Amino acid sequence: MIYFDNAATSWPKPPGVAEAMVRFLEEVGANPGRAAHRRAVDAGRIVYEAREAACALFGAPDPLRLVWCKNVTEALNLALRGLLRCGDHVVTSSIEHNSMMRPLRALERDGVEVTVVRCSPQGVLDPADVKAAIRPHTKMVALNHASNVVGTLLPVAEVGTICRQRGVLLLVDAAQTGGAYPIDVQADQIDLLGFTGHKSLCGPMGTGGLIVGERVDETQMEPLVRGGTGSRSEEELQPGFLPDMCESGTPNAVGLAGLGAGVRWVLAHSVGAIRAHEVTLAQRLIEGLQSIPGITVYGTLDAELQTATVSFNVEGMACSEVGLRLDDEYGIMCRVGLHCAPAAHRTIGTFPDGTVRFGLGAFNTAGEMERALAAVAELAAAAG
Ligand SMILES: Cc1ncc(COP(=O)(O)O)c(C=O)c1O
Repeated sequence: MIYFDNAATSWPKPPGVAEAMVRFLEEVGANPGRAAHRRAVDAGRIVYEAREAACALFGAPDPLRLVWCKNVTEALNLALRGLLRCGDHVVTSSIEHNSMMRPLRALERDGVEVTVVRCSPQGVLDPADVKAAIRPHTKMVALNHASNVVGTLLPVAEVGTICRQRGVLLLVDAAQTGGAYPIDVQADQIDLLGFTGHKSLCGPMGTGGLIVGERVDETQMEPLVRGGTGSRSEEELQPGFLPDMCESGTPNAVGLAGLGAGVRWVLAHSVGAIRAHEVTLAQRLIEGLQSIPGITVYGTLDAELQTATVSFNVEGMACSEVGLRLDDEYGIMCRVGLHCAPAAHRTIGTFPDGTVRFGLGAFNTAGEMERALAAVAELAAAAG
């Protein structure tokens, strides 16, 4: 069995994640921030320690400017819906996930103007094109850090510099890079960082967050939902301070206990070491796939310029059949089709059929690359 669907969600989780969740359920169990008894205090500490761990990973100075969300989709919706108003202009790229594109398209109906900057067919974004797209009423540039289809890394730090020069906010969707590629919100000049817990941060599903930088005026931010926060209980109006103003309702404390353990595992192993391992695997995979007759590999074909997500097609075989046969005959689990990113497939020229996507992760091995390459070679030979 080979798990190559880490771009969708990581598996296995490192030691400590499941244990932290079981420990929360069996030994803590209380509602964080809702009472002063010892169990509630313990629960609050666990949630706060997860906040500190995520901020340490992303170089964010203030844990209280991290808003927990249930995933990056919610984080992006909070940033976009919370800050953009009728008449504002936002710049995005042509290789975004629908988690970015759908809220933006909905905001267009509310009078927000959206410019989509085209990436090259390899998924490369030229920062000069972003600069040229910025107008006087541009409020935000919103980009994913890496494509979930071809893995291509976007030049967020360069765009960050441009945004600072032009007084524009930079929102980054780090779904594919959080825990797999170094991110420092201060050095990269990222104002809003959305992340999801269940991919390379090694946490469970149902966890994610939005880091809100100092340049964002939270008093101008609309929460997605309002309700009980455990703070200012005497008031019927929503609190106006972070993170409480955006964290209504009981949080997924069990999940955050697991996420905290996952992020601490990433910190202990270092993103640099995880990245180096994944680059080695991805480069071998890219080169091996390219050497098989009948295989088209998409993207830059340089593992240093992308995450460990590799998209390809087998000539003469639909990607859905490739996926089924890899699973049935070789025990290889991957994802095929459009990967919730139709714009990205239009950009690389694979719409509407899509691609076969191998999403590698920290626990994949060099031996698995060889077994997968042998399997793809057999399918390609059969198709040809
Ligand atoms: C680039 C990108 N953005 C957003 C998402 C959505 O992630 P989630 O479902 O955890 O919100 C994904 C997940 O596949 C992704 O790869």
